[in-house]
Amino acid sequence: MDNITKIVNDFGESIVRVDGDIPVDLPAKDGDRFLFISHDQSFLTHGLHKYPAKFFPELPRWLIKRYSQENDQILDPFAGSGTTNVEALLLKRHSVGIDVDPFSRFISKVKVTPLTEKELKLAQKVLLEAISHYRPSQVAQCDLPDFPYRDNWFNKEILLELTYLKKRIHELDSDEVVKDFFKVCLSSIIRSVSNADNNCTRTVIRKKLNRTNKLLLTG
Ligand SMILES: C[S@@+](CC[C@H](N)C(=O)[O-])C[C@H]1O[C@@H](n2cnc3c(N)ncnc32)[C@H](O)[C@@H]1O
Repeated sequence: MDNITKIVNDFGESIVRVDGDIPVDLPAKDGDRFLFISHDQSFLTHGLHKYPAKFFPELPRWLIKRYSQENDQILDPFAGSGTTNVEALLLKRHSVGIDVDPFSRFISKVKVTPLTEKELKLAQKVLLEAISHYRPSQVAQCDLPDFPYRDNWFNKEILLELTYLKKRIHELDSDEVVKDFFKVCLSSIIRSVSNADNNCTRTVIRKKLNRTNKLLLTG
């Protein structure tokens, strides 16, 4: 097991450090301490969208391999962004993910739905073409989403750009699964272009509105 080292922390406690994949037969007993260094947080669809307290993929991978066989059924009753379901799929297990949050279910579904490179590239080309021709005047006021404090959270030009992108995704001549993939991509940038403070886990307005928090569709 050359990815395992024993280290001692500043308090004199001994810790087992595991780099990357966790060996199926890793000895683990009550009271043992581990430091897991993940290599796969962006592997395949794992990095697709931020989610609070995501598993690092090696953890469900280890447990699935350790406690199940191919074709078994894996349940994650708090699926979040579907890390367990992605790993179950890769390990040829069936899986069910449950989550009270509809957005979690949406991300999870997108992350476990295989798409062909051809259909993705085609849709990407159409979207990039549309972006290069963007003019704010193409967005009708009636298309802007309406929600509480909208104008506090988003600068007007950002709102127009996001609305335009959403509409172009909606109008893609592609399967719904391809559109859903791009919806998740769009969602993954929303917070960073909003006026929400990215350094704060609570949703608060940035102290200083950053002039660079724009999508720059207009260059
Ligand atoms: C920490 S997140 C799970 C993250 C997940 N392990 C991942 O890798 O993305 C916990 C999830 O549990 C869900 N949850 C909390 N209470 C629930 C309940 N009573 N029933 C179903 N889901 C629940 C939350 O919506 C949240 O998505």
